[in-house]
Amino acid sequence: MSRLVVVSNRVAVPGESRAGGLAVGLLAALKERGGLWFGWSGKVTREPSGSLYEQTDGDIRFVTMDLDRKDHDDYYNGFANRTLWPLLHFRLDLVDYDRGKREGYRRVNALFAEKLAPLLRDSDTVWIHDYHLIPLASMLRERGIGCKIGFFLHVPMPSADLVQALPEHLRLMSSLYAYDLVGFQTQRDVERFQAYVRLFGEGKVIGDGELQAPDGHRFRAGAFPIGIDTGLIAQQAREAVNKPAVRDLRKSLEPRQLAIGVDRLDYSKGLPERFHGFERYLQRHPKQKGLLTYLQIAPVSRGEVSEYKLLRNELEQIAGHINGNHAQPDWTPLRYVNKNFAHATLTGFYRMARLGLVTPLRDGMNLVAKEFVAAQDGSDPGVLVLSILAGAADEMKEALIVNPHDLDGVADAIATASGMPLSERVERWRALMDQLQENDIGAWRRRYLQALEAA
Ligand code: UDP
Ligand code: G6P
Repeated sequence: MSRLVVVSNRVAVPGESRAGGLAVGLLAALKERGGLWFGWSGKVTREPSGSLYEQTDGDIRFVTMDLDRKDHDDYYNGFANRTLWPLLHFRLDLVDYDRGKREGYRRVNALFAEKLAPLLRDSDTVWIHDYHLIPLASMLRERGIGCKIGFFLHVPMPSADLVQALPEHLRLMSSLYAYDLVGFQTQRDVERFQAYVRLFGEGKVIGDGELQAPDGHRFRAGAFPIGIDTGLIAQQAREAVNKPAVRDLRKSLEPRQLAIGVDRLDYSKGLPERFHGFERYLQRHPKQKGLLTYLQIAPVSRGEVSEYKLLRNELEQIAGHINGNHAQPDWTPLRYVNKNFAHATLTGFYRMARLGLVTPLRDGMNLVAKEFVAAQDGSDPGVLVLSILAGAADEMKEALIVNPHDLDGVADAIATASGMPLSERVERWRALMDQLQENDIGAWRRRYLQALEAA
């Protein structure tokens, strides 16, 4: 078996617990197989970018790199999170077109290539992750790296007509042709990528996941929906009942039901819409008023980016408005918490909840949806309310599927979930859980790497 080298901007270095599906998924995937994980250290330094750190945990060797303020601003806060993130989430209205940031993104990708190349062996399998590092394979190839290199996009692939609106889209997108395999979360993402290659990317779709670049060389693309460590989450959830934070939450709720949302504070997650949907539920279903408390956990994410600051202000205002209008002396309908929780605690919260609210406006997959289901008690499970615009909706058909913009629909789904009979809850949960056990994180890693090795 070749050595696996995983490369991503965010790295789950030992001791760090930060919200984000990529780091959670890759850590779980690497724990079983072992390998090298290369990426950003998470530190922004006064000294020029490029200092490397090394540490080992079990079979995983971590090598991370510092970035200086300018690189971090141009590459991470700038092109990655103010240009690519909105574009890939279908938000052309939020895209920043700063040329300097675009060049900074290429500069930092080149630095990744410069620092990573000497660590690589010919027999390695290199697996690069997410929108921060799209050009990396082409830059490694320029340095003579000839081993298998795959890419996986954790976020959605938008429609070709949105991508072609990005200045110099071909320079960026054609760097994907340097990979042996380009992986996406869903088949629809693959189809949108193929449409781009055909219509604007000057390439061809040969068929059966095979594509051809303008220079005639062939590469592959496919759907590899990411899973979770289903067994571990279920076990953590069972064990979490005795954690003080979990016990305190239960005590504070009684006798009311809990609806829970867990999301990074990000505009793609549809939090203002969800808050409004919850208020609509209180208005449309007055008989249920007081039956259910909604807890929204929303750790601050990318707090230096202006759109994220604005969102934070907006949510504080809506939360205050809802509680001001609907709270009673002994009941606060919406609890809004900007704190990051450890996975082990979150699983206990999920298990206590009658309802999981996962209503992003766009999401590549959404691991919280899967974790919520895996954490349930099968003899009395909660119900998942899931956005049709999350990649997870492709697989999780037994959830209550909603359009996050349709506030009446969200409101009615909350009411339905709250009153759903036990037999129906068990039936839906069983079907969802079977699927999560089959396509867990280990299965995802194996499927992808087999396809890469065969490419
Ligand atoms: N998460 C966490 N602590 C928190 C909030 C979230 O550990 O306080 C985790 C959550 O359990 C999940 C991940 O962060 O594993 C979020 O992944 P998801 O795919 O739902 O969304 P993303 O943040 O990647 O857009
Ligand atoms: C999403 C992205 C990841 C990113 C994560 C957290 O899951 O797909 O690439 O790591 O959000 O965001 P952050 O900016 O903190 O890394």
